Amino acid sequence: GTTLGASAAETGRYFGTAVSVGKLGDSTYVGILNREFNRVTAENEMKWDATEPSQGSFNYANGDRILNQAVGNGSRVRGHALAWHNQQPGWAQGMSGSALRNAMVNHITQVATHYRGRLYAWDVVNEAFADGNGGGRRDSNLQRTGNDWIEVAFRTARAADPGAKLCYNDYNTDGVNAKSTGIYNMVADFKARGVPIDCVGFQSHLTNSVPGDYQANLQRFANLGVDVQITELDISGSNQANVYASVVRSCMAVARCTGLTVWGIRDSDSWRTGQNPLLFDNNGNKKAAYTSTLNAL
Ligand code: XIL
Repeated sequence: GTTLGASAAETGRYFGTAVSVGKLGDSTYVGILNREFNRVTAENEMKWDATEPSQGSFNYANGDRILNQAVGNGSRVRGHALAWHNQQPGWAQGMSGSALRNAMVNHITQVATHYRGRLYAWDVVNEAFADGNGGGRRDSNLQRTGNDWIEVAFRTARAADPGAKLCYNDYNTDGVNAKSTGIYNMVADFKARGVPIDCVGFQSHLTNSVPGDYQANLQRFANLGVDVQITELDISGSNQANVYASVVRSCMAVARCTGLTVWGIRDSDSWRTGQNPLLFDNNGNKKAAYTSTLNAL
């Protein structure tokens, strides 16, 4: 293939990018988006603060813009994210206990129902595990509503949109480590108890290297019976082109690694300001990392 999306499709995979609604009027941006990518994740527009700015009052305008642009280009959309400790609306940030739990359940029901049948997947829960060596949950207002909040979120999402793949998504899970093992144990438990979960996303915000057991880590999750995806890939550093190729080869080597998404198009679109971690330069020209990625697909 001559584009990322077409090359990924040759093995039944996809190649996606995060999209920001504010850039849909930028013709260079949209030109690359439509040419290279066949999956889209809304960078911010489907998050809790964006979709429910005041409690019980929902705003889908920007999420719908991104969805409609993607569908018009033949792309599918990954919903991101229903339940997360970050980018909660102010009204939710200070909530706790059953009030917060009920608000979370209502949020998931409303948003997943709005997009019902139109998304290929949802990041149902994002970043719920702690960094470091403990392997446990991150402390957050959602966690403090009870350890069952994650399975409740997944069951609620399944009821609202039975056709969407339901994913858990996190970062610093790129190798076999205490954090990824904590998530692995949760997924194994969900599978054993019939809690609906279909996929695990590995954000893969990397700095100049990738753990040697990256592929093995993807494979151990796949062996639990879930699909795996690289969901927010960006890589800074002088070894960037080689590391991109290595990440792509790892996904290609795992049958249930169904696709990769980069977290933005041009370096100037990246949330990692000044780190130039993406595949296109500020002018929209292909970087060495683009070529190494394309060649690895
Ligand atoms: C980031 C966006 O890229 C920024 O625009 C925003 O200001 C903060 O969030 N993990 C995630 C993504 O799951 O939603 C985050 O996106 C990056 C880290």
